[in-house]
Parts: sequence; structure tokens; C-alpha cells
Amino acid sequence: MDAATLDPVDELIVAESPQAEAVWVLGRPGLVPLAGEHATAWSDDCRDLAAISEGRRRNPLTAKDCTTPVVWMGLPTSLDALDELLGALWRLLGPDAHIVAGGRIKHMSRSMNDVAARWFDDVHASLGVRKARVLHFSSPRQRPAITGEWPRTNTVNGLTIRAHGGVFHTAGLDAGTSLLLDHLDAIAADVTTEVVDLGCGNGVISAHLAHRLPHATVHATDVSWQAVDSTRLTAEANRLRVITHWCDGLSDLPDGSVDVVVTNPPFHRGSAQDHAPTLAMLADAARVLRPGGTVWCVYNNHLPWASHLRRTVGPTRQMARNRQYTVTRTVRA
Ligand SMILES: C[S@@+](CC[C@H](N)C(=O)[O-])C[C@H]1O[C@@H](n2cnc3c(N)ncnc32)[C@H](O)[C@@H]1O
Repeated sequence: MDAATLDPVDELIVAESPQAEAVWVLGRPGLVPLAGEHATAWSDDCRDLAAISEGRRRNPLTAKDCTTPVVWMGLPTSLDALDELLGALWRLLGPDAHIVAGGRIKHMSRSMNDVAARWFDDVHASLGVRKARVLHFSSPRQRPAITGEWPRTNTVNGLTIRAHGGVFHTAGLDAGTSLLLDHLDAIAADVTTEVVDLGCGNGVISAHLAHRLPHATVHATDVSWQAVDSTRLTAEANRLRVITHWCDGLSDLPDGSVDVVVTNPPFHRGSAQDHAPTLAMLADAARVLRPGGTVWCVYNNHLPWASHLRRTVGPTRQMARNRQYTVTRTVRA
């Protein structure tokens, strides 16, 4: 790959980087081929990680050491994700740390500099080029301004929820998920042996299911490593059995194998409005359900999922609706 084929963020990261024999590439897998023979890399999304060979993978949230002080990274849109990641890098990199963090200007805010300044004394921005900008972080602080431990811990309906910074709602309860959980008894009544939390985030739905259904097998899937690890930590904190799968949709599960799929699906990937991943997830739900199994789904009222589920999966009933969210139950025809 040459610089001409790079997107503007990647191009600026490379142009602004200090000389280094090897680089640790975080969240921008397209940069791995440019990062040197000894480069290591990580991406939270398993679909992006597939492009990184196993020998090069190094997760900053679990790594015990690092081989280079130079990091090229994509700026996460979530400030909590940025805080947890920079805290991990602060612990790993040492005094020569130099992080070149890129993003599209429209997705960047001054608050990102403030978060970085908790961990690094030198935080400065490049000039914008083709709607992209990089931030440089170096000179690790002697005493960082730590605002709390990651993963965070919270209590929801008497259950302990644990979450990494990049997870939807961190350790909180989304209002849509809360409306869905109002129907926990009805959901539980549909389960004979197997239930799946599709897009599990912090594991709040899985934990409620495993607590309510101690004899059922509860699966939880997500494309995000941080989500799957949070769900594992949530289950562990409550001594519940949840089988986690770091995968796209339900690709780890066989056809016709589960009684119920429960989901609060995403309506965008990253920052791009895009329904395609949700449509693929709902198609996968239909695939793994046994005939007569059900999908319980919560979504923003403006989204067309009831008619889509009716058309592609089976008879669909609205079970609840408030000013913002709708909950549906669909029976697999
Ligand atoms: C709206 S959040 C819901 C999280 C959690 N279930 C809750 O209710 O708080 C949607 C989740 O779906 C995950 N997700 C997005 N695309 C996915 C895909 N293709 N396969 C599996 N999970 C996906 C996201 O990472 C995110 O954790």
C-alpha cells in the first residue's frame, strides 16, 4: 500500500509519526502494513481484527508489556474509551511514549485533549488536513489525574454490572434496555433451554436472564472485545453462568438451536448511520431460532423493525411502547 491509497486520517498519522523501528497500531488496521516488520496491532471489533495476523495481535487492555513506545491509534468517539485506553498505555509505555492519535475533525472535541491531559503532560494537535487531524500525546505525567478505576462497576436491579470504557452505556442501564427488561418474566416463559443475548454490551440482559433462568443456557455475543469481556466480568461478579462469544452476529451458533433471541440492536456502526449490520443481525436471529422460537427486540420508535421482523421472521406483536422505544415479540414461522 502507498500513501496515495490511504484515507486522510491514516495518511496524517503516518506523516506526523516520529521515526520508529516498530509501531503499535490500535484501532486502524489499515495502517498495519505500513507499521514495520515488528509492528503489533489491536482492534476491538473482531471483524477488523481478522485482518491482523495472530502473531501480531496485542490488546492494550490485557498486555503486560510492550515492545515500542510509539503508538498509532484511531481516536475512539467515547471519552470513557479514550480514558481507559490512555490509562493502559500510560502504564505500559514508559517515558519515551509518543502516541499519534487520529480522527476526522467532525468527530473530535476539546474534551479529548482534556482526557489525554489526565495522563500526559504534552498534548497538542496538528493542523487539520483534508478534514482529518491528529493529536500527539507524550511526556507521561508523574502523577496522572485518575478519575476512577476501569472496568467500572455499577448496580442495576440488584445485579453488579461491570464495563470497559468503550461499551454502550458503560456500566449503566439504557432506557430502551430497561423497557425490555420490564418483560423479563414473559421472555423467560418463552425459554425452554437456550437463550441468546445478541449484541450483549455490558451483559446487563444476559445477567438478568441467567439470574431469572438458572437452569437455562445463556449465550451472549458481541463484535466488540470490550463488550464480551464486560459481559464475562458482569457474569463473574454475580456468580452467573453466561457463555460469551466474540463474533459477528450469531455466527458461533448453529441453525435452529435456540428458543429465544433477546436484543437491543445497534443502529449504526462506529459513527456512520448504517442499518445493514442490524438487518444482518436480525436475519441471523431468524437462522438460529428453532421454529416457534421468539425474538424479543427493543428499538427507537422511528426505526422500521416491526414490519421488517414481520416480513422476514414471522408474526410480530408490539409488547410495549413509550415516547422513545418500542418492544416487540416475533414468533419464528
Ligand atoms: C445498543 S447496544 C446494546 C448493548 C446491551 N445489550 C444493552 O442493552 O445495554 C448494541 C450492541 O450490539 C453490538 N453489535 C454491533 N454490531 C454487532 C454485530 N454485527 N454482531 C454482534 N453484536 C454487534 C455492539 O457492540 C453493542 O454492544
